[in-house]
Amino acid sequence: MDFNEQRKQKTEEMNRILCKYFPEETGEERLLCEAMNYSVSVGGKRIRPIILTETFRMFGGEGSLSEPFAAALELIHTYSLVHDDLPAMDNDRYRRGQLTTHAKFGEAIGILAGDALLNYAFEIMSDAVCTQGERAAKAMKIIAAKAGVRGMIAGQTVDLVLTGKPLSAELLDYINERKTSALLCAALMAGAALAGADEERLRVLEQAGTYVGLAFQIKDDILDVTGDEKKLGKPLHSDEKNEKKTYVALIGIEKAEQKVQQYSEQAVELLDTLPYKNPFLRELLLYLARREY
Ligand code: IPE
Ligand code: IPE
Ligand code: MG
Ligand code: MG
Ligand code: MG
Repeated sequence: MDFNEQRKQKTEEMNRILCKYFPEETGEERLLCEAMNYSVSVGGKRIRPIILTETFRMFGGEGSLSEPFAAALELIHTYSLVHDDLPAMDNDRYRRGQLTTHAKFGEAIGILAGDALLNYAFEIMSDAVCTQGERAAKAMKIIAAKAGVRGMIAGQTVDLVLTGKPLSAELLDYINERKTSALLCAALMAGAALAGADEERLRVLEQAGTYVGLAFQIKDDILDVTGDEKKLGKPLHSDEKNEKKTYVALIGIEKAEQKVQQYSEQAVELLDTLPYKNPFLRELLLYLARREY
């Protein structure tokens, strides 16, 4: 089976896993559950949960222990997108080829659906911690820290606060390492931790995740200018509209593409230093640099 076929299959498998965790659309709070499920089910590449699962397998993990953590990570990522699209943030109307959650359900429900997705992710993980013990607790701790006040939310905050201001490459990296690398680090590290990896290996994966995220965000910024809106499923020129200073604005498309390539190769080089192999994961990390959406 070629790589694209494999990726498609793994995405479908991840969608089936995610379905198991959808809150039932019942009760007076039905609208909230509908908005949560809508946000998650309309699409998305499922990169983070697939990376988590593949890293779990790479480190010898067996069985379904990775599933609740893969699902939780995708719920956290999805909440970050729901909030990122809000009028107070990037104010975008389309995401994953559909109306954004707030555009479909109204701003207040958009905010609450984001809140609930985040909280629900921790319900799912803490359930697993109660029955599975230490490795699960470690994975939850990693995900909590990477998503949190020094992780993804820090990146989103600095991104917002510095909007419209001139940015140095250092500050841009500071933002990207948090708003985007952090959840990719979480995917690699939590997957490995669930399989029992030690601190030394987790540090290697953290560095690899940082490179993956830097490449991923710069590519996202390039696609915001040169992408195909239909394939992307979100509006082009969101960054220009919001006066976001990206690497594209800083050094131009061509040099930005070189950076994507360079970071992506650095990530794979680090992965190759580990005594475990997962050819699909390796190929997936390289694919992210040449993706079209
Ligand atoms: C978009 O993430 C937000 C960024 C960090 C650039 P993805 O490109 O993974 O979005 P989905 O999940 O596939 O929709
Ligand atoms: C946001 O980056 C990253 C998040 C943590 C959500 P962007 O604002 O560039 O993401 P898109 O382009 O809206 O997906
Ligand atoms: Mg944003
Ligand atoms: Mg945005
Ligand atoms: Mg973007």
